[in-house]
Amino acid sequence: MPKLQLSLLNTARDDDKDIDFIAPKRKSPDGESTTNLIFSSHMGDNSELFPQILQLHVPKGSKIADVTYGKGVFWRNVNPEDYWLFFTDLKTGTDCRRLPYADGEMDCVVLDPPYMEGLYRDDGSFAGQGTHDAFQDHYSNGIRPEAITAKWHDAVLEMYIKAAIEAKRVLKNEGVFIVKCQDEVSAGIQRLTHVEIIVNLNQLGFYPKDLFVLTRFNRPGVSRVVRQLHARKNHSYFLVFIKGATKSKMASIGVMNHLLGDQATQKGNQNMEGEEDMQF
Ligand SMILES: C[S@@+](CC[C@H](N)C(=O)[O-])C[C@H]1O[C@@H](n2cnc3c(N)ncnc32)[C@H](O)[C@@H]1O
Repeated sequence: MPKLQLSLLNTARDDDKDIDFIAPKRKSPDGESTTNLIFSSHMGDNSELFPQILQLHVPKGSKIADVTYGKGVFWRNVNPEDYWLFFTDLKTGTDCRRLPYADGEMDCVVLDPPYMEGLYRDDGSFAGQGTHDAFQDHYSNGIRPEAITAKWHDAVLEMYIKAAIEAKRVLKNEGVFIVKCQDEVSAGIQRLTHVEIIVNLNQLGFYPKDLFVLTRFNRPGVSRVVRQLHARKNHSYFLVFIKGATKSKMASIGVMNHLLGDQATQKGNQNMEGEEDMQF
């Protein structure tokens, strides 16, 4: 309690004493004024933004597992001596859903799996074939991963969630989980992947501590369009989660249930009834 309040309380209890008035000291704020901050929105590429995310959220000396290392673009501007790094990828034999680490071993896990439903197809229409070989080579290992049960965009989400369950296992409490993703329109339906991941990971016990938007400099290539229905996406996200959090940090998932209780689930189920299982 501040000294001023304390002395007034004492006075009220014992008013024949001299008032020992202690003027409150003005506390000078800590830190220095600066505009040199890390911002939530960037134009550029992964290798420029990623080191800033580490700088803000992952202390030097931390043990970090990048479980979808790919070509290691994230690490191009990171001094490897600053961290204790573990790089794996399906291409080199390690599935991000089955990591070779002990429970609670990691301070940080980095995840960037294929984010487009076309990269999970096994029906011959695999995105990135033919003229887009380079794209496929960069974003995918070229085979539909085993044990993905969902289809289309749901396969993308399933990979993120399964990898998050494994990341939660290998992360220590309050460990940092950095997730790269991009929204997509799949089968004509807008799928806000970053929202879907946040909602699901919240339920897994991850607190979404930060979000970064990365906007591409270059314009996406020309497309054949009859009528544009959704904005063409030229941005992606880095989401920063913390494993485990106080109830107040996880409050967002409780509001609907708190307000509507069982009604919320019943109404949701009613809306689902009669909806056809659509094939696209
Ligand atoms: C978008 S790329 C990652 C790019 C990477 N962040 C970089 O900086 O180069 C996706 C990567 O996920 C890998 N991948 C796909 N499924 C995987 C799985 N089940 N486990 C681990 N890696 C997987 C692919 O081989 C590919 O290298």
